[in-house]
Amino acid sequence: MKLFVATHNAHKLREIGEILPAWEIAGDDPGEVDENAPDFAGNALIKVRAIASRHPGCWCMADDSGLEVKALGGAPGVHSARYAGEPTDSAANNALLLKNLSGHADRRANFTCAVALVAPDGSERVFEGKVFGRIREELKGEGGFGYDPLFVPDGYEKSFAELPPEAKNAISHRGRALAKVKEFIHAGAA
Ligand code: IMP
Repeated sequence: MKLFVATHNAHKLREIGEILPAWEIAGDDPGEVDENAPDFAGNALIKVRAIASRHPGCWCMADDSGLEVKALGGAPGVHSARYAGEPTDSAANNALLLKNLSGHADRRANFTCAVALVAPDGSERVFEGKVFGRIREELKGEGGFGYDPLFVPDGYEKSFAELPPEAKNAISHRGRALAKVKEFIHAGAA
């Protein structure tokens, strides 16, 4: 099954390919779309609509995701990619997060991922996944991307960046949202 994914993020594309190994995944850059929705679902829909018209009769999807930190009122949230400003810079984002959280005892946070899917008949659906955890005091690990070196999922001592990809994907916000997508498509195909 072929699936067009609206992204220019090679890390995300790789994770999606790992989570959906039976599918032929093709990235399609949505270009400079204005991700101005107030929530992840709205932004995922904006991105998938930007590519769906180019692939009539095909499955298309986009994900929008981010980190929500309790003590910061849900920030960086939909602004996760550019928390420290343009252009996206993970090192600067992580440094700003640590600075803004310094002195806070409550380090609880979660990642959220919304996946918007356009079916071959043009109908749209959004699936959401979350993973809860806490923000470390310093960066740890080399894997993953973005805030992974700072995020320790509940029940673990290691950050997402220290876990092997299959361990992260099994519990991650993206893994959980994509499991729902998989279930939906297979139920329809049966
Ligand atoms: P998006 O590309 O608009 O969905 O922005 C997502 C941003 O949220 C990324 O640039 C990362 O900063 C952060 N993010 C989303 N998912 C993850 C993840 O799995 N690990 C670490 N950071 C993530």
